Amino acid sequence: MQIANRTVLVSGASSGLGAACARRLLKLGANVVGLDRSPPGAWLSPNESAQGSSDRYWHGQANVTDEASVQRVVARGIERYGEFSGVVCCAGILHGERILSRDGIASLNAFRNVIDVNLIGTLNVVRWAAESIARGEPQAPDGERGVVVMTSSIAAFDGQIGQCAYAASKGAVASMTLPMAREFAKLGIRVVSIAPGVFETPMMQAASQKVRGPLLETTVFPKRFGDPEEFAAMVQCVLENAMLNGSVLRLDGALRME
Ligand SMILES: NC(=O)c1ccc[n+]([C@@H]2O[C@H](COP(=O)([O-])OP(=O)(O)OC[C@H]3O[C@@H](n4cnc5c(N)ncnc54)[C@H](O)[C@@H]3O)[C@@H](O)[C@H]2O)c1
Repeated sequence: MQIANRTVLVSGASSGLGAACARRLLKLGANVVGLDRSPPGAWLSPNESAQGSSDRYWHGQANVTDEASVQRVVARGIERYGEFSGVVCCAGILHGERILSRDGIASLNAFRNVIDVNLIGTLNVVRWAAESIARGEPQAPDGERGVVVMTSSIAAFDGQIGQCAYAASKGAVASMTLPMAREFAKLGIRVVSIAPGVFETPMMQAASQKVRGPLLETTVFPKRFGDPEEFAAMVQCVLENAMLNGSVLRLDGALRME
């Protein structure tokens, strides 16, 4: 997919990986609709932030779990820029809790909330965006209409103690990738998930040194956490490379969590 002049929906665009994707796509000449439960991130100028928009960026505040508000943001984006050609799902939450701990038995509500935001929220954003992408014109040479990019996690494959809810939500995103790619093939839509290792975003910066230290230690090479720009570069590659489809791509410096 050629990125310039196409319209891409980015969920979680106010922070971290989503913000890096929105910035990169704007630089590459796309129109970007950011969707986040938070106001626009500090990466917009104060003036643009107050308006919730810049030249080719519009920010829609919505909870990914809410059907009507996601539909509204997608509809407003289409009014502004025309049909979408891509969606990058980055909205998500981290949660750690043992099933049985000194504090008692884990709450089902916390588990449900993680599944709700990370899995059902991702599907909710994808379905409204995909409906719009499917209305677009197929592009030469393959008849491609657009691309869906979802964010899984290496926790989908090597989840740690206390990560049952998070690993289940990200494992389910990984598992949705192939059936979704198969379903959307006749519409000319590719589907790829990225499973990041540890990236320096507000989500991971909030983690304690006790969590961060061993993760850094276990990272093979390069011995550092990922830069959100490196995630955005991977998203660019997925959007541009027509042979990437139906896969979950690890982006982790060979980190295998213990
Ligand atoms: N940072 C990492 O190391 C890492 C590793 C693996 C996977 N991930 C995944 O990458 C994605 C982005 O994470 P990040 O590190 O940029 O985190 P982040 O906290 O910096 O950004 C997440 C964004 O999602 C938004 N969001 C959360 N819940 C939402 C909801 N219900 N509705 C709308 N917006 C919501 C937040 O407001 C925030 O702007 C998440 O899905 C996360 O699980 C991150």
